[in-house]
Amino acid sequence: MLKVEGLTKRFQGVVALKDYRLTLHEGEILGVIGPNGAGKTTLINLLSGFLRPDEGSIRFQGQDLVRLPAHRIPALGIARTFQNIRLFPSLTALENVMVAMTVHHPPDLASALLGFGPGQRRAQALREQAMHLLEQLGIAHLADRPAGVLPYGDQRRVEIARALALKPSLLLLDEPTAGLHPEESEALVEQLRRLHREWGMAIVMVAHDMPVVMRFCPRLHVLSSGALLAEGTPEEIRNNPLVLEAFLGRPSHSGAA
Ligand SMILES: Nc1ncnc2c1ncn2[C@@H]1O[C@H](COP(=O)(O)OP(=O)(O)O)[C@@H](O)[C@H]1O
Ligand SMILES: [Mg+2]
Repeated sequence: MLKVEGLTKRFQGVVALKDYRLTLHEGEILGVIGPNGAGKTTLINLLSGFLRPDEGSIRFQGQDLVRLPAHRIPALGIARTFQNIRLFPSLTALENVMVAMTVHHPPDLASALLGFGPGQRRAQALREQAMHLLEQLGIAHLADRPAGVLPYGDQRRVEIARALALKPSLLLLDEPTAGLHPEESEALVEQLRRLHREWGMAIVMVAHDMPVVMRFCPRLHVLSSGALLAEGTPEEIRNNPLVLEAFLGRPSHSGAA
């Protein structure tokens, strides 16, 4: 469903991502790990159309994403979350999810939020769908609270619910468990696992939280200084000397790096 080749992005001389490639199949889960500054967020920004690459191609279900205007990308079924949570803090959790549904139902939104007009029946259906998403993430009881006052872990869940409101076939998660306690991370990963089983969307999860990624993702990419350093199963990655060196700063005997 997704084929990325030669993807390169520079910021004033800094090469944030260089010559990255990826083939992802329907429903597949890929984890992307790497130290801070490795280019993980840049990759998510490129795949979601938030940034344009300097070089390379991104083909999604046969379409060339690099040539599409960024605002067209969510409607294709690509949704993302942000490393730094971006919710509308004064809208409720439910409203944050409903706003995302405008991608598929633009004319319904105003009546949905304002509660009148010819789209009212449809609006009720949207409200129920949004509520269902909150339920799936275990936060239905927070539906009417302003997003900005929710604890961090719940804001992450609202963000994921909002991404799912796009009914994505590709979900991009940037550090979804950052800032969560280990038990909270585990619960969130369990919810993601259930959602994936139910929806079957492909997922690219970026993180520097190794244990979480290793348990959730059957296949991993390791980025280091913008380059694809290694790929394989969690087992292969765990035993890869180049990876140990990149993460732990261990000198390599071979000089291969
Ligand atoms: N908007 C930007 N402007 C300038 N440099 C950036 C920008 N975004 C990222 N970078 C640089 O690109 C590199 C990769 O960053 P990033 O993709 O955020 O890494 P990661 O998410 O793996 O921590 C870093 O050196 C970072 O400083
Ligand atoms: Mg990042």
